[in-house]
Amino acid sequence: VKRRPKRSSSKAGKDAANAPVALITGAGVRLGRAMALALASDGYDLLLHYRSSRKEVETLAKEVQALGRRTRILQADLSSEAQTLRLAKRAWAAFGRIDLLVNSAAIFWPTPLEKQGAEELAAFHTVNLKAPYLLCSEIGRAMKRRGTGAIVNFACLSAFRAWRAYLPYSISKAGVVSLTEGFAKLLSPEVRVNAIAPGTVLPPAGMARSETEALRKRLPLQRLGSPQDIVKALRYLNGADFVTGQVLRVDGGRSLL
Ligand SMILES: NC(=O)c1ccc[n+]([C@@H]2O[C@H](COP(=O)([O-])OP(=O)(O)OC[C@H]3O[C@@H](n4cnc5c(N)ncnc54)[C@H](OP(=O)(O)O)[C@@H]3O)[C@@H](O)[C@H]2O)c1
Repeated sequence: VKRRPKRSSSKAGKDAANAPVALITGAGVRLGRAMALALASDGYDLLLHYRSSRKEVETLAKEVQALGRRTRILQADLSSEAQTLRLAKRAWAAFGRIDLLVNSAAIFWPTPLEKQGAEELAAFHTVNLKAPYLLCSEIGRAMKRRGTGAIVNFACLSAFRAWRAYLPYSISKAGVVSLTEGFAKLLSPEVRVNAIAPGTVLPPAGMARSETEALRKRLPLQRLGSPQDIVKALRYLNGADFVTGQVLRVDGGRSLL
């Protein structure tokens, strides 16, 4: 029986250094976590960003390492411009490259009519729009200089038709659609920029079961999404070489209603 030659450790080391690298913002929990595990199993080394979910992201890093991938954990509050710019620098420096940027971190809470105002608008604008804008700009330009890269942003269905109870959030996500299209033009042809617009995939913690059930029944596909539905969209957009500037709605048909 012929044995396959063992790879020398220096070759294995070189392979590890050549693995593609993804930065995921808001990686510690929920969709960020699911995407991190999927990318790790696809062979990506991971830059895991978090703001406050330190324990969760440390656990995640261990799981990713158990899959044979390298990780770095990066903390930053994306409501701070300085911290956001610092994150971009530190992230690039960690492995000397970023092949995929996933802008997943965001804030989301209801803002009824009496809460509409400059402060709420600024809060959503800063975290949900300005931070991904700055990361697209900083990391996108570095990718372009390197000659390759992909960015996947997170919009939302509310970007296309504002949700009554979430207006500043909806406005910020409409901006994400625009920045996706704009950077797709600015960074091409080396870097592709797309976005995912989920419907309700993981309902917010406080949402009543009766509410999610009522929503589910209205959907053409009769189910809420799962993190795996988002993972599939991410994998598609990341691999779709002829697609840029697109916003993929992953919503069980909700946008048809
Ligand atoms: N889940 C859904 O059904 C759904 C629907 C439509 C759109 N989306 C979009 O899909 C993306 C992922 O959704 P998700 O539900 O997984 O998100 P999420 O749980 O609401 O938030 C993801 C992470 O964002 C981070 N974050 C919030 N404020 C931050 C700040 N100031 N600085 C740095 N990080 C901050 C938090 O990190 P820490 O925990 O470390 O603080 C949080 O864990 C988001 O952009 C969301 O708007 C989701």
